[in-house]
Formats: sequence, structure tokens, C-alpha cells
Amino acid sequence: MNVLVTGGAGYIGSHTVLSLLENNCNVVVFDNLFNSSIESIKRVESLTGKSVTFIEGDIRNKHQLSNVFSSHNIDTVIHFAALKAVGESAQIPLEYYQNNVHGSVCLLEAMAEHKVNNFIFSSSATVYGEENEVPYVETMKLGTPSSPYGATKVMVERIMADTAASNPHFRGVSLRYFNPIGAHESGKIGESPKGIPNNLLPYVAQVMVGKREKLSIFGSDYPTKDGTCERDYLHVMDLAEGHVAAMKWLNDNQDFAGVESFNLGTGNGVSVFEIVTAFEQAVDKKIPYEVSPRRAGDLPAFWANATKANDALNWQANRSLDQMMVDTWRWQSANPNGYDED
Ligand SMILES: NC(=O)c1ccc[n+]([C@@H]2O[C@H](COP(=O)([O-])OP(=O)(O)OC[C@H]3O[C@@H](n4cnc5c(N)ncnc54)[C@H](O)[C@@H]3O)[C@@H](O)[C@H]2O)c1
Repeated sequence: MNVLVTGGAGYIGSHTVLSLLENNCNVVVFDNLFNSSIESIKRVESLTGKSVTFIEGDIRNKHQLSNVFSSHNIDTVIHFAALKAVGESAQIPLEYYQNNVHGSVCLLEAMAEHKVNNFIFSSSATVYGEENEVPYVETMKLGTPSSPYGATKVMVERIMADTAASNPHFRGVSLRYFNPIGAHESGKIGESPKGIPNNLLPYVAQVMVGKREKLSIFGSDYPTKDGTCERDYLHVMDLAEGHVAAMKWLNDNQDFAGVESFNLGTGNGVSVFEIVTAFEQAVDKKIPYEVSPRRAGDLPAFWANATKANDALNWQANRSLDQMMVDTWRWQSANPNGYDED
């Protein structure tokens, strides 16, 4: 199996590349390194003892993409490449639409030109928007996302549906991730955000290594179990393995054409306070924090109904919250500056 992984040097991409190599796939990573480092790929190679073909390029450059398809016999594309900061997307929406939507269109065009039909897309729980009730289930209608970032995910899902309607050979899988955290158990690869982390766990981890002074908890007056927001956190290696499961599903269902969506989550809501407590226990240290006002656009609580992925993909998010914390800490304490210091 020859797999093209766009955005494969990033956080989820690098962990997925590792899982793909462990499952004997040949992997071509295509990434512009805008939010990542080639070091992640080098470490994946050293962990697996296998090599990756790395191509530095931009998904908005059709010529570069076309060259990739011409020179590698690609069966399946896993498409991670995107900008992903929810808050930033409201400041620079056009860059988000350009990168995430236009970039995806260029990729799908290049695939069509080279008759590659297997496409696995990094979607997000954000596509359920504010209207749907929790737990989110795939039969729900797409909602109205609270940010331009979320809108790009809805748009690409629609583009996939239209592509499938016009091309009877197109086989798309949309994986709707909930909240991936943690790192590979080796502590060699993990999340290495550039600038100030947008997500809770990398922020907590940076406070613990002394890079940030204290954690801000945005709102403690939500209608949730302890007043803080609840999310469905899953271990990034479980998420990575979800991609391998989706690829196997495509392979086992050769008659399938169209688009199928799967929620990838644990099915449990965990609050910010619960994360703080779990991290403190894993590290055996107190986390300095303050409660700040709510952040615009944050939903109080959401989690997945992951039954469809459990049944059809034979996949489950098995790793515990404790393991997510321990693995995050192993990575962060061994690499306080992420990949930057190498
Ligand atoms: N991390 C999350 O919490 C989360 C949740 C839901 C969905 N997602 C989606 O999963 C995917 C991967 O997320 P991540 O957390 O690994 O992010 P990341 O920023 O670590 O990885 C994205 C990668 O894509 C690359 N990239 C961006 N634009 C590109 C372009 N135009 N051409 C080529 N490469 C480009 C970046 O350099 C980076 O390596 C994204 O599509 C994101 O929207 C992430």
C-alpha cells in the first residue's frame, strides 16, 4: 500500500505515519513545514527503523502535487494538511479558506487527474456546530460551526460529497476527530506547537516545564459537572490507529463508493478541572492556574457517540486518561522546546 500523507510532519500526521509504517505501508509525506519540523519524520524513521519519502511542498501548488502522483504509485491519500487555530481563523479567515478549502480542492483535482480515488480526510467534531445535541452521532445534519476554521471542515466535507456524486469511483472517508492529546509512548514524538499553544494540554505541559507562568481556564460557570468545559479527549496513538483502521475498511470494502463519516472519540466528556487534576497526579506537582472569562465560541460540552467506528472499523479509543497525561509529560519533559532545540 502506497500512502500519500499531506501534513504528515505535524502532530497527528507524524503519529499516523508511525502507525502506517508499523502496518507495512510505504509512506510519502508532503508538507510545507509551516507548523512542523522535519525532525518529527526523522524520529519516526528512527523509532520504526523504516524510511519515509519526504517532499517539502504546498497543497495549493498543483504542479508539485501532480509531480508527486506521477512519480509515486499512490493508492490512498490521508489529508491532514490544514491551518487549525480556531481563534486565529476569525482574525485571518481568508488564509484559512485559502489553505484549507482551496488546498483541498487542488489536492482532489490532482487525485482526479491521476485517477487516485481513496481519500481519508481530517475532519472535526466542530462540524456538528451548536445546533446538535450531545453525544454527536454521524446521522446528524452538519451544523453551523462557530469559527471560520470549522466552516472550512464543513466545506471540505461538502466538496467530498459533491466529488463522490460526480465520480462513481471516489471513495472518501471523513474522520471527525474529537480532542487528541498525548504523545507516542517513547516520548520521542509529540505535539510541538509553534508560538503560544491553542490547546489545553500543550499549554498545561508548557506551564509544567516552566515555559509559561500559569494556565488560564476560560470560564468556570458553564452548565457542566464542575462549571468548566467538557471535551472528549482521546490518545493521539488511538487516533493514529483510527486512520489505519479506516484504510483497512476501504481495502476490505472494495465495492464501496461515496463518502462515509466516522466519529473518532472515546464517548466520554472530561472537564478542564479533571484534566488539571489528572495531570497533577501524573506529574506529582501542582499546576498554577487562574480562572479567566469565557472565550468566545467555546461550547460548554461535547463528546462522541463512537459506536459506528467501534462496529464498522473495529476500532476503539482504548488508552486511559492517565496514559494520555503520562505520555504527554514524558514527551514534554524530555523535549521542553519540542523539536526546536534539535
Ligand atoms: N489537533 C486537533 O485537536 C485536531 C482536531 C480535529 C481536527 N484536526 C485536524 O487534523 C489535521 C492535523 O492536525 P494537527 O493537530 O496534526 O496539526 P499540525 O499543525 O500539527 O499539522 C498540520 C500539518 O499540515 C502542514 N500544512 C499546513 N498547511 C499546509 C499546506 N498548505 N501545504 C502543505 N502542508 C501544510 C503543517 O506544516 C503541519 O505539518 C488538521 O487538518 C486539523 O484541522 C486537528
